[in-house]
Amino acid sequence: MRRRTPAPAAMVLALGLALTACGSDGSDAAPEVKVQGAFIPEPASGSMAAGFFLVHNSGGADTLSSVDSPISGQVTLHSTEDGVMKERSSFAVPAKGELDFERGGNHLMFENLKHRPKQGDKVAVTLHFSKSGAVTVSFPVKAATYHPASHASGASH
Ligand code: CU
Repeated sequence: MRRRTPAPAAMVLALGLALTACGSDGSDAAPEVKVQGAFIPEPASGSMAAGFFLVHNSGGADTLSSVDSPISGQVTLHSTEDGVMKERSSFAVPAKGELDFERGGNHLMFENLKHRPKQGDKVAVTLHFSKSGAVTVSFPVKAATYHPASHASGASH
């Protein structure tokens, strides 16, 4: 025999409304970041390597605040504007949007390499987001000239 339990039903309804109200304001929603298409082109020298990836965010806004990797003494974040490379302290990850690190644009620079990554290696890289926390991704090392199929922009380094 079924019993009616009105109190819990009311609570579920209230919670549903609260979530809806929260979701309508993108800045309050939790970010849901996914890192895709990550790779490191095999570097020409053992001193420095670049890294590329795409952050796909299906939730609220977040910030990429730093990056580290066991192969590198220091990983810096760079943008390229009008062909000029600039070091940046952080990158905004837009709500329901993408942050693109691609050849010719934004890129990671792995400095003070502990060893030179070779094609076929996998390099652990940890991206630190202000809200999502640390996300560790395995970056495959590709040929120096590798371009993902969807990216056709010119190479810088
Ligand atoms: Cu750079």
